[in-house]
Amino acid sequence: MDERKKRIFSGIQPSGELTLGSYMGAIRNWVALQEEYDGLYCIVDEHAITVRQDPALLRRRSVAQLAQYIACGLDPEKNIMFIQSHVPQHAELAWILGCYTQFGELSRMTQFKAKSAQHADNITAGLFTYPVLMAADILLYQADLVPVGEDQRQHVELTRDIAQRFNGLYSNTFTLPEAFIPKMGARIMSLDDPGAKMSKSAPEGCVNLMDPPEVILKKFKRAVTDCETAVKFDKANKPGVSNLLTIYCAATGKTIEAAEAEFAGQGYGVFKSAVGEAVVELLRPIREEAERIMGDKAYLESVYQAGAERARYLANKTLSKVQRKIGFVAR
Ligand code: TYM
Repeated sequence: MDERKKRIFSGIQPSGELTLGSYMGAIRNWVALQEEYDGLYCIVDEHAITVRQDPALLRRRSVAQLAQYIACGLDPEKNIMFIQSHVPQHAELAWILGCYTQFGELSRMTQFKAKSAQHADNITAGLFTYPVLMAADILLYQADLVPVGEDQRQHVELTRDIAQRFNGLYSNTFTLPEAFIPKMGARIMSLDDPGAKMSKSAPEGCVNLMDPPEVILKKFKRAVTDCETAVKFDKANKPGVSNLLTIYCAATGKTIEAAEAEFAGQGYGVFKSAVGEAVVELLRPIREEAERIMGDKAYLESVYQAGAERARYLANKTLSKVQRKIGFVAR
């Protein structure tokens, strides 16, 4: 890696299909930033098991996710792409950082509150300490920038707090990372419930990167709007239409004003079809390329193995420094 470039770390859980939300909130920016930064992009399988997974499906999705990262335009030559569980330093650092994180801080995490309500019969210690593992992911690589959607902002802020605390106790050890959250697409809402985030755990209102065109068009045709007719951006009063406008603009690069003018006087039917078509065209090359890459298992294996090897090398540098500073005996 070129030491002069700044570093990015980001990851996605292979707990479901990659969604349009993850693409617009995160992956797109990874691709846009790859010339300027050295990137580490992770498939966070250890995070995924904080809620129960089907083992065969988890394994398949982890590899498919790598194929989709590449199909989105992430270049394995320019970035380190790997599977979290292949780099044991993540779990090791997470244990240490957990001893520098307060119970109260973790209790305040919005995502923990939401997920523990959703999985009330399985609120594990892993679900609770999940943000500490995320802090370890980021801090292990001295990442400067973390491109994520709005829902991860709080976790990146906690990461900074943990890093600052550790640096204060043991002198400068970790780079303080910053969240990179896009202006357009940071929070794509569900198509069938514009009050909720589009999420792989609620497949009804969710568009997946691998959905075929007819499925995408159908999902947009059914999207919830309101009982008016004007295509206007008004988050408070017209959340469904505003979300569709956001998706349309994020897909086409148009401004909200231009999109409003384009659909002035036209009904929601025309508008919803146009948004569906725009998304179909955005995702078509990604789906086709991902399908092609998925056929080449040997290539995918070579990418994640080489990625893990490079990641382990970088991770070890930080982990050894941390272990030395806190008083562990050198191995
Ligand atoms: P995850 O897997 O839930 O989501 C992956 C990424 O997609 C973004 N995202 C969205 N953005 C806009 N609109 C949406 N509807 C939407 N849904 C998801 C998320 O903000 C995220 O950027 N904890 C993380 C994974 C993680 C991670 C990390 C991220 C683990 N370690 C280190 C960054 C750095 C998560 O659960 O993301």
